[in-house]
Amino acid sequence: MTRIDRRALLQFLAASPVLAGLLSLSRAPLAKASNATPTLRSAAEALDVFELRDFAQQVVPPAHWGYLQSGVDGDVTLRANEAAYSRYELRGRRFVDVSHVDLSTTVFGMRVASPIFCCPIGSLRAFNPDGEVAVAAAARTQNALQILSTQSSCSLEDVTAARRGPVWFQLYTTNRFDVTRKLLKRAEAAGCPVVAVTVDLPAGRNTETAARLRREDTRTCSACHVVDARGNPRLSLATEPMFQGIDTKGLALTSPSLTWDFIKRLKDATTLKVVIKGIEAREDAELAVEHGADGIIVSNHGGRALESGRATLESLPGVVQGAAGRIPVLVDGGVRRGTDVYKALALGASAVGIGRPYAWGLAAFGQSGVERVLKILNLEFRLAMVGCGARSIREISADSIIAKG
Ligand SMILES: Cc1cc2nc3c(=O)[nH]c(=O)nc-3n(C[C@H](O)[C@H](O)[C@H](O)COP(=O)(O)O)c2cc1C
Repeated sequence: MTRIDRRALLQFLAASPVLAGLLSLSRAPLAKASNATPTLRSAAEALDVFELRDFAQQVVPPAHWGYLQSGVDGDVTLRANEAAYSRYELRGRRFVDVSHVDLSTTVFGMRVASPIFCCPIGSLRAFNPDGEVAVAAAARTQNALQILSTQSSCSLEDVTAARRGPVWFQLYTTNRFDVTRKLLKRAEAAGCPVVAVTVDLPAGRNTETAARLRREDTRTCSACHVVDARGNPRLSLATEPMFQGIDTKGLALTSPSLTWDFIKRLKDATTLKVVIKGIEAREDAELAVEHGADGIIVSNHGGRALESGRATLESLPGVVQGAAGRIPVLVDGGVRRGTDVYKALALGASAVGIGRPYAWGLAAFGQSGVERVLKILNLEFRLAMVGCGARSIREISADSIIAKG
């Protein structure tokens, strides 16, 4: 075929609706191919957190992958969390001297390299044998804040030793205050400055995607887990590190009967600062301040609690309004890029949490994978600051983002 023939053929095909259909079909796999990175040889090769996600998916068995990725019901809130960030644009500014850009910040007296922190995730040894200890080691080298879950699969003491410094302790209230008190005392003894009490899961949830992926797993859950009559793993607090030495008979992680006076009870029982994790409404932010909370994390548990359909980024401005500068407001959910971090700070957050992304890094490459995730997000965040002319966290303002019309 001559060059002219070929050009004529291409012109004909370009005008053809059949080819247009094929091209639109072919865009999806092409986009996926560029994300799927079976050939990553080290964490350092990952270009963004999605490459680590795709790599992790190949090495994590389906049931554990389902545990990590699941939202609730149809995962609508989970997707909303991520999508909300694309509804804001950054307003670049020019001719600002950005030769020195400082990402560091202070959260409750703790100086950290950047406002990006690692959210509490239970059972991290499901993704890497070193679990929360590997995350702590990464948090140490990157000087990042780590919040340790009540359901940590490593002991709090091993984690603080690996961090060589304090972590925050995330508290599930439990249904017995004598147990809550023991958990708080242990966190105090380990040097935690802050307890983040999670309040968005009062009475169960429907993690449908997790259940669906469990069907695909051919391994026998009972080899590692306590299982129910149908062979599905069930919660067994007795085997979890935070509950060693505690009588777990009749113990539940949360209680549906708690009301706001619980916060005062908590404050009276501990010397730790009390941050409430899982606030979404302006009124609840006001009530949190009234009841003596020291801080708030706007969170919907990564779309794993109420299937509200509402992104945490959408809830953030109302909560910031409710707190009215009296206590710091942090946020998590759906953060996948440094520009997301920038947008959350511009909307009034003091710090921004990541959950799944660091677990992807952990599953893919252990400590160095978590480090890579923090490095990638911090680099992207730095570039957002540079482009918007913000030289310090304090210089990030609401003026530098625009909500799409
Ligand atoms: C697998 C998994 C386990 C989690 N475990 C806990 C937990 O034990 N305690 C808690 O307060 N939040 C828990 N979360 C919620 C996270 O702390 C955080 O709010 C959420 O992951 C942030 O959203 P992202 O994953 O989209 O970044 C968990 C989240 C995931 C994905």
